[in-house]
Amino acid sequence: MQINLKVNGEERAINIAAGDSLLRTLRSLGYFSVKHGCETGECGACAVLLDGKPVNTCVHLTAQTEGHSIETLEALGEHPEQGWKRTEGLHPLQQAFVDSGAIQCGYCTPAQILAAADLLARNPSPSEAEVREALSGVLCRCTGYLKPVQAVLRSAAILRGEQVDPINGSLPAPSVWLEPSGVEPGGGALTTSPGSAAPELELRVMPQIQVAPESEAWQRVGKPEPKVDAVKLVQGKPAFTADFERRGLLHAKVLHSPHAHALIKSIDVSKARALEGVEAVLTWQDLPRVIYSTAGQSDPIPGPLDAFSLDKKVRFVGDRVAFVAAETEEIAERALELVEVEYELLPAVLDMETALREDAPRIHDEPEYVDFADSDPSRNLAAHIAIDIGDVESGFADADFIFEEQYAVPKVQQAHIEPHVVVSYWDENDRLVIRTSTQVPFHVRRQLAPVLDLPIKRIRVIKPRIGGGFGGKQEVLIEDVAAHLTIATGRPVIYEYTREEEFIAARSRHPMRVRMKTGVKKDGTITANAMYALSDTGAYGCHALTVTGNTGHKAMALYVGDSPYREKPNIRFYADVVYTNTPPSGAYRGYGVPQGFWPVERHMEMIARELGFDALEFRLKNALRAGELQPFSTAWSEGRAPQPETIETCGLEECVRQGKAAIGWDQKYGNEAWRQMPGKPYLRKGIGVAMVMQGTAIPYLDMGGASIKMNDDGSFNLLVGATDLGTGSDTVLAQMAAEVLGVPVDDVVIYSSDTDFTPFDKGAYASSTTYISGAAVVRAAEHAAERIRVRAARMLNERSAPKVKVDPHAPPEVKPDDIHLADRQAYAPDGRSVTMSEIGHDSLHYANQEQIMGIGSYMSPVAPPPFAAQFAEVTVDVETGAVTVDKLVMAVDSGVIVNPLTASGQIEGGMTQSLGYAVSEEMVYDEKGRARERDLYDYHIFRAHEMPDLTTIFVETFEPSHPFGVKAVAEIPMDGVAPAVGNAILDACGAQIRENPTTPEKVWRALKG
Ligand code: FES
Ligand code: FES
Repeated sequence: MQINLKVNGEERAINIAAGDSLLRTLRSLGYFSVKHGCETGECGACAVLLDGKPVNTCVHLTAQTEGHSIETLEALGEHPEQGWKRTEGLHPLQQAFVDSGAIQCGYCTPAQILAAADLLARNPSPSEAEVREALSGVLCRCTGYLKPVQAVLRSAAILRGEQVDPINGSLPAPSVWLEPSGVEPGGGALTTSPGSAAPELELRVMPQIQVAPESEAWQRVGKPEPKVDAVKLVQGKPAFTADFERRGLLHAKVLHSPHAHALIKSIDVSKARALEGVEAVLTWQDLPRVIYSTAGQSDPIPGPLDAFSLDKKVRFVGDRVAFVAAETEEIAERALELVEVEYELLPAVLDMETALREDAPRIHDEPEYVDFADSDPSRNLAAHIAIDIGDVESGFADADFIFEEQYAVPKVQQAHIEPHVVVSYWDENDRLVIRTSTQVPFHVRRQLAPVLDLPIKRIRVIKPRIGGGFGGKQEVLIEDVAAHLTIATGRPVIYEYTREEEFIAARSRHPMRVRMKTGVKKDGTITANAMYALSDTGAYGCHALTVTGNTGHKAMALYVGDSPYREKPNIRFYADVVYTNTPPSGAYRGYGVPQGFWPVERHMEMIARELGFDALEFRLKNALRAGELQPFSTAWSEGRAPQPETIETCGLEECVRQGKAAIGWDQKYGNEAWRQMPGKPYLRKGIGVAMVMQGTAIPYLDMGGASIKMNDDGSFNLLVGATDLGTGSDTVLAQMAAEVLGVPVDDVVIYSSDTDFTPFDKGAYASSTTYISGAAVVRAAEHAAERIRVRAARMLNERSAPKVKVDPHAPPEVKPDDIHLADRQAYAPDGRSVTMSEIGHDSLHYANQEQIMGIGSYMSPVAPPPFAAQFAEVTVDVETGAVTVDKLVMAVDSGVIVNPLTASGQIEGGMTQSLGYAVSEEMVYDEKGRARERDLYDYHIFRAHEMPDLTTIFVETFEPSHPFGVKAVAEIPMDGVAPAVGNAILDACGAQIRENPTTPEKVWRALKG
């Protein structure tokens, strides 16, 4: 049918099918700011303004929009300089999102800005609560909403004509946006006018920082530079994998298993293949039988090889049965219905304890299975870990008290708003191009080569902008589907998960059951500490060993005991990682450590309370300190030889001091009067703490590379294999290069990553990018700087060359080592200078021409841990069990903070994700292995109006193993929120919940006894 649409003020006559969603129509018309995050109207990423009001286009039929006006983000402002053309610039809302650090992956940003535009059109002076309400329809998995909310308040003030302080020297909004009549790019809500007097603007986007003295003289590192990709993201530019158009694109769909465990007795695809518009249907019989691991890790994969692209056996509800490529998604879906499969059902193992029984059905009986370390498929064992440090039994014998308890943590989802998505095609050189939303482009290329029967050199993997990953995209999860179909058809193929596929077929966090046993002296000294973890890897063993290994390696490393045990700690960590017929677990931000700190920190709280110790002092008395060995570094290294590592920096004590002051610990802890709410006897307040540590990269394994070249105008191209998931790593890497080269960040054009053009990088995981890839960038920039100094010295000496042979007034000869780079200049010690653009121009066009460039790579022998103190304040309704988390304060020692805006965004977003782990998120399966949670309605992640108050404090230490003193920041906020909330609930009302999430039902049951 033909209809007329009015989009951004422009009339468009288009042909649509009756069932077309407005989302699909707008994207097909090139409005790529409209994003797909689900199909059920829950995430809000697809929002546009329809007659000025936000609507979710995925659940809105295009046919219903005839005669209505649609506005997308493309109607707002744009980059102010377009060559000779000048535009009105970014809208204040867009600019405020850039300046406030409100963007991480940017996938939700267009919808957030439109929702804000609608609010400000109705209410020029909104309160924070009103802003939160307005943004509540748009889920963000990255930010914790603090900065987006502040960005809206900031732009509201600007639009009212008020002065706001610059966050980073950013320019005020162009006056055109402040005219009462406004401009009308699309009409409606996108035009905003000045309003009434402002409420006081409280801008809280910057964290509190105790700055390391070493960083005080730096120009770029340590500054809240706006993200290098922010301007494109606030315009909704087509930066993501799915925003890619290619002629003849086919759409892929996968038939998923309805059974938890079954053999495919027969499969008939003749009807599906015969359907018009279907180009390929593939089953296990069509593909080479190549066993591999889907875990995106360095070679050799530290885990078993136990997966095929397609197999004759299915091992969980959601496992793959067949692939289809067709002209449209609808045809592909119809084709799936025509595939006839006869299954032979096998008994399923749905529980991790059952999996280890001798009579348990065997999930992996394929002869191609390749063991790693202690995996044993005959026992459904994907990995087994046994680590003994010191003499644990004698430590227990020394103890005055032994505390033993059991804990459990659930399976949870990364829930990035951009689903997994990949596009593959043959290029003109018969090389297979895979454009994919991945954290590990180089691992994708290496791991897929044998699966596709292509040499590595004939595969190119491009990583565009990623809409969040959180470990979920550290998996070679769907790239093979599109690639096989491209090989089968010769045509480009796109495969994008639906939200339901994310829940039934993607990876998740390993659920675990954990036993703790701790020996303690009367004075509070821990004499021995032991953990046994039973971990569920689901149907495949991706990340089985390494995730569960981390559970002990980080969480059990924190408490070594006080002297004499501090010098010789007694720690045991044993684990079994078992296969079950449930969707595979995998990497999820935190990588096993949140599973460890829930039991460790709940256990420490219990011990402190039972023995009457101060919760903070007891922990600090026994906690690891600078100058001591990371105890696990002497005993375990993911199946490789351990290398003892000394902790050089630890700011934990200062984190506790600052965190407890920020939350008012001394006034609240143990204060019965504070716990009570006047007039509301059914409400009780509580406060809790958890101390945590993480790692920074994987020593002797993780490697990152970088190259940098100088251009004619003194700008630089920085190429890195590192992968920015929205974390801001492109920005901090550019900051480090800019610091070394003495130029503004704007002069460093960064590109990441493409296996053809950028150097290798292991990818974005293990909190390693700023540390590992950053050190590589520094090395590359130093190489380039060396060449710049040589040329600058020559240029300065030539310019000052004496006219006569012996001139007593001639300036002294400048040596390269004397040159200082700053402010786009190369300075001699006497103040003479030559500009970067003169150097760049000279190097390429005039004398001794050369390409000034540098390359660098870095592999670290150490993994310096960040430390943190996490505080939580809650209110519990003791009649219903409902828990409200009121406040989260996290004080973190992540070394030097390269960018306070992006780093605090990481902490806020991480605390928010782990708040879900604490109180609401959980994936549950029925007796047939079918998932209960299949959408973002049943799987609740926090919305803007549900958030507690978030406070981030950085306590900088200078880590000597890195040129800028950094440690990791990305994962540590995942570790402490759940136990701190659990401890706060205990403090409030005595409810002892040992299995998170702490749902109202569990609290209520605990209170009722
Ligand atoms: S609400 Fe439309 S894509 Fe999620
Ligand atoms: S920035 Fe909101 S989903 Fe990533």
